[in-house]
Amino acid sequence: MHCGHFSAGRCRSCTLMGTPYADQLAAKDAAVRERLGPLVPDHVWQEPLPSAAAGFRNKAKLVVGGTAGAPTLGILDADGRGVDLRTCGLHEAALATVLDRLARFVTRAALPPYDVARRRGELKHLVLTASPTGELMLRLVLRTTGPLERVREHLPGLLADLPRLRVVSANIHPEHKATLSGAQEVPLTEETLLSVPMGPVVLHVGPDSFLQTNTAVAAALYAQVTDWITDRGAATVTDLYCGVGGFALHAAAAGIEAVGVEVSADAVRGATRGARDLAGVPGAAGARFVVADASDPAAVVAAAGATQAVVVNPPRRGLGPDLPVLLDGLSAAADPATPTGTLVYSSCNPVTLATDLAAMPHWQPLSARLVDMFPNTDHAEVLVLLGPR
Ligand SMILES: C[S@@+](CC[C@H](N)C(=O)[O-])C[C@H]1O[C@@H](n2cnc3c(N)ncnc32)[C@H](O)[C@@H]1O
Repeated sequence: MHCGHFSAGRCRSCTLMGTPYADQLAAKDAAVRERLGPLVPDHVWQEPLPSAAAGFRNKAKLVVGGTAGAPTLGILDADGRGVDLRTCGLHEAALATVLDRLARFVTRAALPPYDVARRRGELKHLVLTASPTGELMLRLVLRTTGPLERVREHLPGLLADLPRLRVVSANIHPEHKATLSGAQEVPLTEETLLSVPMGPVVLHVGPDSFLQTNTAVAAALYAQVTDWITDRGAATVTDLYCGVGGFALHAAAAGIEAVGVEVSADAVRGATRGARDLAGVPGAAGARFVVADASDPAAVVAAAGATQAVVVNPPRRGLGPDLPVLLDGLSAAADPATPTGTLVYSSCNPVTLATDLAAMPHWQPLSARLVDMFPNTDHAEVLVLLGPR
């Protein structure tokens, strides 16, 4: 893929830009195998799961710069000036085609971009998410509630301009921090969840929920894990760090009883709606979701109880020291006749994955696969299927 922003030095986020995709994938696969070398033997690795190299991102996270009259949507340069990346080639077409209209909305509603150096202005970020149906969710991250009246006044015009826009919210983020959002979410439309059909299920995503960034690859990821759990003969699964329930709902659709554990109430609300969609579908099992800390073994065992399979998909920091306690707790809770015999680790950070695998000497890798969620960068999503030694 060629990118004019990269060539001109305006944006260097895609560090592998310009490298032919097949070479990127082979190099990333080799790097991941080397990193996990002694822990995941060569013979268990499957072929990597590829992605489209362009047009795959379902979410545009845009820092707003410039002025209300001439906003930039993209990133800030080293001097804090806005760099416009509306034509970023990673965005899905459903995003790319509406970004100019979003910029015009910023102008019409007279929303002054936040100036990081002066700590003045209001509009920090626009986050736009696309469903494969073409429907959209928009989150405006504002410094204060001050501009909300103008946003509400101009919202009907925006909705008329973007007929596929289903969900709009404002996030209030008063702090001067690099984080993407603050604690207060103000819904601005009646619908507060975007429906994202994926394989046999629908994921319902709120503005504060995690959604895997590459819809086609996420669908393949969930299908792969469901196949593994099915092949292992598990009838129950616990999905830790479940977000809006991708792994749990796919397993439930395949007839495996599922429980999901997640800290975000917004995500659990969406996952629970996904479970309701499956109720009554022939062949589907039940799924339920609990707001709890997945790193707290006692909370997980209380929420999930006995389970034959566990899926973990933590943030980049990994699972840390509580993992062995957690696995022991789940195994102890399990029915001795059908103990927890399957663990799937889906990781977006091979470094913490290696640390966590090293802390699990009683579990052995049976299969592993690089899933290329993030083309043009060296970021890697890695799946490992484990069974007891
Ligand atoms: C990498 S995302 C995975 C989400 C989901 N498995 C998916 O495929 O969309 C990690 C998730 O862990 C959640 N999380 C972070 N810390 C947590 C904790 N201590 N307990 C439970 N969930 C947590 C985040 O809110 C986020 O939804």
